[in-house]
Amino acid sequence: MSTPPTELIAVAWDGDAVTYLDQRRLPHEVRHERARTVEEIEAAIKTLAVRGAPAIGVFGAYGVALLRDAIADDEHFALAARRVRDARPTAVNLAWAVDRVLAAEDMLAEAQAIHREQISMDKAMSEAGLALIPKNARILTHCNTGPIATAGGGTALGVIVAAQRAGKKPHVFVDETRPLLQGARLTYFELRQAGVDATLQVDGAAAIAMQRKQIDLVIVGADRIARNGDTANKIGTYGLAVLAAHHGIPFYVAAPRSTFDFSMRSGDEIHIEERAPEEVTAFGGTPVAPPDAKVYNPAFDVTPGHLVTAFVTEYGVIEPPYPETIPSLELRPRFGVLT
Ligand code: MRU
Repeated sequence: MSTPPTELIAVAWDGDAVTYLDQRRLPHEVRHERARTVEEIEAAIKTLAVRGAPAIGVFGAYGVALLRDAIADDEHFALAARRVRDARPTAVNLAWAVDRVLAAEDMLAEAQAIHREQISMDKAMSEAGLALIPKNARILTHCNTGPIATAGGGTALGVIVAAQRAGKKPHVFVDETRPLLQGARLTYFELRQAGVDATLQVDGAAAIAMQRKQIDLVIVGADRIARNGDTANKIGTYGLAVLAAHHGIPFYVAAPRSTFDFSMRSGDEIHIEERAPEEVTAFGGTPVAPPDAKVYNPAFDVTPGHLVTAFVTEYGVIEPPYPETIPSLELRPRFGVLT
């Protein structure tokens, strides 16, 4: 394994390109790439080279600003922006960020503002979540929600790292997160970089971990949250929420306001991305199932809002009843703007 650098830059503006960390290569190789065309931007998102709801929002925002400069014809530009916006369907942050940039007069300035805001929102979120983490907490998490997933300080993982910095000494049980192993490859890697004690487990070990390992809480991120608190997140999250309820363990979701989709009344309306069967029939490129096996490979599931103990946002902790507390979030002034 290469020596971990002190700082991994998830996404950055580079004048004539958008630079990104190729997350597919972690933890073995830290390599940054440059995307300059709509094809390169779209491919980076679709292949999960750039992934994580807020990070694809920031990347898409810079991407559209870049394409505006490169494509003079308005119709061609609109088509290119649409390709970026639609590259992945479930995380609302991508469409939200692209729409925000498209509505701005200075697209690059707007993309930079989205990036800056993400960094300060992540910081506020981690501070808000700190109160939920007891000293020496044993925490279970799923997928990857760290700095590389947000282009800031992270959502759920940001809260965990804040707890570590506050001297709370959390211990994290990390689901490997099949089929693409974001937990094993990325979360374990980022926790180690942050000096957080962690144990890796297969996804199927979550139940016995809750039964026998004194798990105090579960905290995950989100890709889209409906007005009633129904939460789309990485496949396997819903099962964790059911298990947590069974074991009487709090289940928290950390997400910025940009991940809430106030237009959706419930999670039934959320479009769940289905990915290629090969992600399931092969492991690290080696076939593990008959090549013609029928496969169901949803990238996300929807946790019913009633299973979420609380949401951690940049505006503070939000508790039930969600059909009342979440819509009031929409009315809050833009983050960082004082009333
Ligand atoms: O398919 P991915 O890896 O982009 O899925 C990411 C997740 O599900 C994360 O948990 C979510 O985006 C929250 S990230 C801060």
